[in-house]
Amino acid sequence: MTANPERHEFQAEVKELLGLVVHSLYSNKDIFLRELVSNASDALDKLRFERITNAELGEGELHIRIDVDREKRTLSIIDNGIGMTRDEVVRNIGTIARSGTKEFLSALKTSERKEVPPELIGQFGVGFYSAFMVADKVELVTRRAGETGATAWESAGDGAYEIRDAERGTQGTTVTLHLKPADAEQGVHDYTRGEVIQEIVKRYSDFVGYPIRMKSWRKADAKDAPVLEDETLNSQKAIWDRPKSEVTEEEYNQFYQHISHDWSSPLRTIPVRMEGTLEAYALLYLPAKAPMDLYSPEMKRGLQLYVKRVFVMDECRDLMPQHLRFVRGVVDAHDLSLNVSREILQKDRQIQIIRKQLVKKVLSTLEDMRKGDAGEYQRFWGEFGPVLKEGLLAYDVDHKDRLLELLSARSSANPNEPTTLADYVSRMKEGQDAIYFLTGPTREAVAQSPLLEAFKAKGYEVLLFSDPIDELWLERAPRYKDKPLVSIGRGEVKLGSDEERKKEAESLEQKSKEYGDLLACLRVHLQDEVKEVRLSNRLTSSPVCLVADQHDLSPRVQKMLEQLGQEAPKTKRILEVNPAHPLFEKLQGIFRESKDDPRLELYSKLLLGQAHLAESGELPDPVAFSRALAEVMQLGAR
Ligand SMILES: Nc1ncnc2c1ncn2[C@@H]1O[C@H](COP(=O)(O)OP(=O)(O)OP(=O)(O)O)[C@@H](O)[C@H]1O
Ligand SMILES: [Mg+2]
Repeated sequence: MTANPERHEFQAEVKELLGLVVHSLYSNKDIFLRELVSNASDALDKLRFERITNAELGEGELHIRIDVDREKRTLSIIDNGIGMTRDEVVRNIGTIARSGTKEFLSALKTSERKEVPPELIGQFGVGFYSAFMVADKVELVTRRAGETGATAWESAGDGAYEIRDAERGTQGTTVTLHLKPADAEQGVHDYTRGEVIQEIVKRYSDFVGYPIRMKSWRKADAKDAPVLEDETLNSQKAIWDRPKSEVTEEEYNQFYQHISHDWSSPLRTIPVRMEGTLEAYALLYLPAKAPMDLYSPEMKRGLQLYVKRVFVMDECRDLMPQHLRFVRGVVDAHDLSLNVSREILQKDRQIQIIRKQLVKKVLSTLEDMRKGDAGEYQRFWGEFGPVLKEGLLAYDVDHKDRLLELLSARSSANPNEPTTLADYVSRMKEGQDAIYFLTGPTREAVAQSPLLEAFKAKGYEVLLFSDPIDELWLERAPRYKDKPLVSIGRGEVKLGSDEERKKEAESLEQKSKEYGDLLACLRVHLQDEVKEVRLSNRLTSSPVCLVADQHDLSPRVQKMLEQLGQEAPKTKRILEVNPAHPLFEKLQGIFRESKDDPRLELYSKLLLGQAHLAESGELPDPVAFSRALAEVMQLGAR
């Protein structure tokens, strides 16, 4: 040994930490390389920064090297970055400065469980010490930029380290790992193999902003002898922190394809830059087409998370809410720990701030798109509209008003031209105090529903909804600005001025008295199927329709709940009959002649069947319906 060797005990906390690291804290041992490369990259950042004000620090190319010695079974990570003085080595490597780690250790001590609770692991970074997961001895030689002497440090991770003066040709740091034998069961791979290193670098450090080089054997030609050549392992092509003006659309699209495995081009690219209290970059994409698994619980969703260009995790769900799960992209959060775990992310304040910003940005992009290019917005809405509506259901979404603004719906005024709530409101009739809507199983069924008749006749516009999710969010009685959204398929209809309403109610009551006995007769025949038979003021040309009682679940919500295996209260609906329809006159005639005419039962079954058909094109009991129909035809033919 050369000058001034010293033996130091590690700080008590470091000893504990090393114990944990060596006894496999992480199942994934490969991350040691990510940690060491990230330290090298940090050191290069620091030198680059110091060079701005200190010209004496030279201007040679900044890079990272990985050297492998198969015979000695060593792996070295070498950088020409800022390096450390002897004091800095003692301070940085050998003590734990970060308070999070101390807390972690004390939490661990009070924890009764033997194994490390996973939600705790992410709270601290093992950083440099992760080298001891795969090495039984680690050496470090470092020379601070601007100084001539160097320092050597070594430890077997057993509680003490040695430090002495040394020599190093240039500034920077070399970390050499004496590798443990490979052990597939323990997740320790053979890190002396070039292809193993290559793969790990590609996975975690591809976008690190400095070249990571390794010597590899190459043949220029098949007959040539192989020669050792430098190979750069990482692409360094992080495009999220480059200014938008310097990146071409082609590059953005290629990157989208790289992360999404979707070979079409995205509908929109959204670069996001956050500076100030928190530094983060993101590159988000709105895909042009919905993925196959958009509605599957197993959908691959979430953004990729990086910390200063170092890959941390895929599918980070906490960065995007469920109803924006179609957004793809990456987030590079500069102030996060590399070792952050999924459990921690959920509660991390930074992540919450970032997520909020990203949501804002996505919504404002959609707002711009809606205002700027209606065709493009409709394409987007066709693919992802129903997913966006899920946000109207969630209790914890604070931007529901913005989602309502983004809503696009068909309208009875022109079923081919989608409209927004704002546009609907601007067209509302004088005195109209609610936004009317109708839900149904298909676009055609709602557009042709008999329930629309009176509204159309009186010039009221009705929004038409046919996505399954519509049943659910509209069930929650939403409001747009100060206007409630009111279903025209439930309760009683009250249209027009107070005067008109009063008149209509009176005339309906009058007729109900007149036809009271007939209605009672129909009620008896249909008592198993409906809860009420009454006269309608919603129909102009159809004979019958079905409506829900004011507070009952809609039949399709009921069905959905059943499909989800949930107990749903069985509610019957109300059959409304159009007193102005000739069929009703006919029934009244038969009824007057004989209350027991068998046709009365048949006709009531057929009327109910018709109401079902007009609503959804489906019958609850098609066999009974066709039997009744055949009987009526026979009666008629007699
Ligand atoms: N290659 C290097 N060059 C210069 N300094 C280094 C190098 N590697 C480690 N260090 C110093 O050692 C310290 C400890 O490294 P370690 O990886 O344990 O923690 P960190 O990098 O500060 O945090 P984290 O890795 O959790 O983000 C670093 O902060 C740095 O000061
Ligand atoms: Mg580190």
